[in-house]
Amino acid sequence: MIECAVWWAEPLPQEPRFLAHLDPLEQGRRGNYRQEIDQRRFLTGRVLAKTVLAGRLGVAPEAVTFDATCEDCGKPHGKPRLPGVEFSISHSGERIGLAVSTVPVGLDVETDTRRADDSLIEYALNEAERQTLATLPADERVSTFFQYWSRKEALMKATGRGLKIPLQSITLSGAELVECTHEALDPATTRLADLDPGEGYRGAVAALTTDELKVTENWWRPS
Ligand SMILES: CC(C)(COP(=O)(O)OP(=O)(O)OC[C@H]1O[C@@H](n2cnc3c(N)ncnc32)[C@H](O)[C@@H]1OP(=O)(O)O)[C@@H](O)C(=O)NCCC(=O)NCCS
Repeated sequence: MIECAVWWAEPLPQEPRFLAHLDPLEQGRRGNYRQEIDQRRFLTGRVLAKTVLAGRLGVAPEAVTFDATCEDCGKPHGKPRLPGVEFSISHSGERIGLAVSTVPVGLDVETDTRRADDSLIEYALNEAERQTLATLPADERVSTFFQYWSRKEALMKATGRGLKIPLQSITLSGAELVECTHEALDPATTRLADLDPGEGYRGAVAALTTDELKVTENWWRPS
């Protein structure tokens, strides 16, 4: 059995006590966001991750430093990594999430109140998934679409390749990976679970393991 702990948070204010958690590269990334809410989501993801992981490692949050070097271009906007622990950050709207485990994990949260027009559905879902969606009552379709989206993105994020894996290459049956035409994901070594990020949001977590996955969800607030 593999344990995976998920924490949910709301955007923190940009106060010195939180900003002190960011290293110079992270300060630069925060400053590059033009919208204040984007800055706060980025800040919150890093403060949440550093605080939770510091607790596990028995060090101060300010002492935790991530390597987020992008494997494609070398800039510091890739999947953050810390030796000895696996984790994944996601943010959407007023929700910021962190998943922590001992095996590679991918977390995704999405607001389910956005529009999902036909072209977006065709971009993300394959034929069988679209048929499942079409059988649902109209008022459930958008929310279910974003559940599918979050499952697929969680899977991609677990591999560290993100959207480099085409959404269409993944076939799901509910919260189960049935098939992936991309070599990075094998149903035999992949686990997926739906999450509960609260009303107006959909979320999922994926783990690369053959073991059963046990997920716990908690709310995080700064002390
Ligand atoms: C990662 C990715 C899926 C983000 O999706 P999103 O829905 O916009 O955002 P989310 O909030 O769910 O996730 C963002 C977080 O994922 C993490 N992340 C970044 N790159 C990642 C990757 N390749 N794999 C997994 N996680 C990644 C980061 O923690 C990031 O948040 P942070 O930088 O604020 O800490 C998408 O940006 C992606 O595929 N990037 C990699 C490929 C790419 O576009 N490269 C071009 C740059 S050279």
